[in-house]
Amino acid sequence: MQDNTFCMRFLGTGSALPERVVTNDELATILDTSDKWITQRTGIRSRHVLTDEHLEDLAALAAGRALEDAGLDPGEIDYFICSNVVDDYPTPSLCSLVSERLGLTCPCIDINCACAGFVYALDIAECRYEAGKARNILIVCADAPTRMCDWRDRSTSVLFGDGAGAVVLGPGDNIRAIKLTSKPDMQKLWQRSRQMPTPFYKGEDVDTGLQMAGGEVFRYAVDTCSADVQALLAETGLGKEDISYYLIHQANQRITDAIRRFLDEPEWKFPSNISDHGNSSSASCTILLDECRRSGLFERGDIIVLSAFGAGLLSGTAVVQW
Ligand code: UT7
Repeated sequence: MQDNTFCMRFLGTGSALPERVVTNDELATILDTSDKWITQRTGIRSRHVLTDEHLEDLAALAAGRALEDAGLDPGEIDYFICSNVVDDYPTPSLCSLVSERLGLTCPCIDINCACAGFVYALDIAECRYEAGKARNILIVCADAPTRMCDWRDRSTSVLFGDGAGAVVLGPGDNIRAIKLTSKPDMQKLWQRSRQMPTPFYKGEDVDTGLQMAGGEVFRYAVDTCSADVQALLAETGLGKEDISYYLIHQANQRITDAIRRFLDEPEWKFPSNISDHGNSSSASCTILLDECRRSGLFERGDIIVLSAFGAGLLSGTAVVQW
């Protein structure tokens, strides 16, 4: 294994989900779909959906749980990163709304790297540690993709769920390697928001629902994740036998299975919560990490691969030693 030059570790994790659970059978009452189709094509059986709650409250709940898990007070956090695609407020940023709720006064920043946001946030955090600019960093990934879908479109609206996941980081050596990729292609997965008309711009009648070329995104996800994992194993000098678990972005169980088959790894190395959560964008991997950790799955020293992919098209993969 190569020398580890990374300098942060996980101090705590947390997550929060909306109360309302929507089953496939319930979706079949409002869309031309079925439990059989959704289960067979995606592995999803139900998802948590925001109703009257606010995403920032969910994000603050997840952050509070991660802080409690880390044994830190909000005042001990000196940098805060939020990963988010769409919130109620274009401004102020989600991190500002969450900071207000938690009583945080440190610098904070929102990033939008779609589903890959957690790994991109880890990379930014790592840069701050390398620069000696932070001691305790909070990352919150909070997304509400059910509010991005056109609910007349069965090909997207059955796939998503809402939620928030959080980690607190401190100085240490948990991170072994990170690989980020970008393959700009806005036609595969996008949503356009309506701008305010002005005296100089009449506004456009745009379709505001999430648009996705499902099959092509599927292939991108399998190809990029498989290649990124292989590249990181080569870079770190780790073998497959060294990896305890792969936490893959929960977009479709068939995507995870295809990556697993490509890597020729056993099923038990790929924990999954897609059946109960659907795809919660950047919150997905973060929630899975928290659930696995709280269930006692990880042992000290376990080497874990985190990998996520989505709109952009962006992907991010990290090798972490627990
Ligand atoms: O977070 C990262 C971004 N997202 C992803 O990674 C998602 C990647 N893509 C996928 O997971 C899959 O491509 C989907 C789940 C979106 C679609 O699965 P698929 O096996 O690629 O199905 P398809 O799009 O090829 O559609 C097959 C059929 C079509 O009918 P016809 O044309 O064969 O008659 C669709 O109209 O299934 C139909 N269909 C549905 N039927 C019932 C599409 N959505 C539904 C539905 N219920 N919800």
